[in-house]
Amino acid sequence: MKPSVLVTAGPTREKIDPVRFISNYSTGTFGYAIAAEAARRGLSATLISGPTNLEAPKGVKIIRVETVDEMKQAVEKEFKKSDMLIMAAAVSDWKARNFSGTKIKRGAGKMSIELVENPDILAWAGRIKGRRTVVGFALETESLEKNARKKLKQKNLDLIVANRLAKGREAFGDNATDVMIIDRYGKKTVFINKTKRKLAKIILDRALELNIGYKTC
Ligand code: CTP
Repeated sequence: MKPSVLVTAGPTREKIDPVRFISNYSTGTFGYAIAAEAARRGLSATLISGPTNLEAPKGVKIIRVETVDEMKQAVEKEFKKSDMLIMAAAVSDWKARNFSGTKIKRGAGKMSIELVENPDILAWAGRIKGRRTVVGFALETESLEKNARKKLKQKNLDLIVANRLAKGREAFGDNATDVMIIDRYGKKTVFINKTKRKLAKIILDRALELNIGYKTC
């Protein structure tokens, strides 16, 4: 049996009021490339996507979501039916404690919004995964390897893809990028100036190798 691959991609949006939200610069390129690559290999591929401008890759089942809670619900449902989760989405860490049903007006000179932490979807998957393979991403501005190793261990991952947000080379979008991949055995591999399409193949290859239940047809 070929493994079924669940991928998340894109940003999430946390609503503040009917016209405003908290989000990030994620374009979804990486996750879409991984899901497309899985489908090209004839694997069953499901993509849970936050808001992006990208078209659903051919042969991929797509589930569109907006908020972290919606993404969490979709992952919980789909992970049951999957052999592998690749969590490429840039999940918002916080949401507004209170959503205002009407547009918040200016006028007081300053204002603050109370934020509360969102659930960590990847950490949940790492806790309950059993024999399934769980791959996470880490976007860092400093101490890339140290922080990536910490996330790998804390979230009980099989593989982590670490990306540094550096000046001059954008981690977001279509550009070629540098990544460091660390597996559950602690083995580190660095890839320099590679397109996300090439990296998608590399990540999927390594994740499939790490998938204990994986058998070729
Ligand atoms: N992630 C998640 N749920 C969250 C936050 C992150 O599932 N609420 C996942 C991301 O999809 C990614 C990994 O966790 O695969 C790491 O995300 P990142 O933003 O780099 O790290 P955080 O765990 O949020 O930690 P920090 O922001 O403190 O670096």
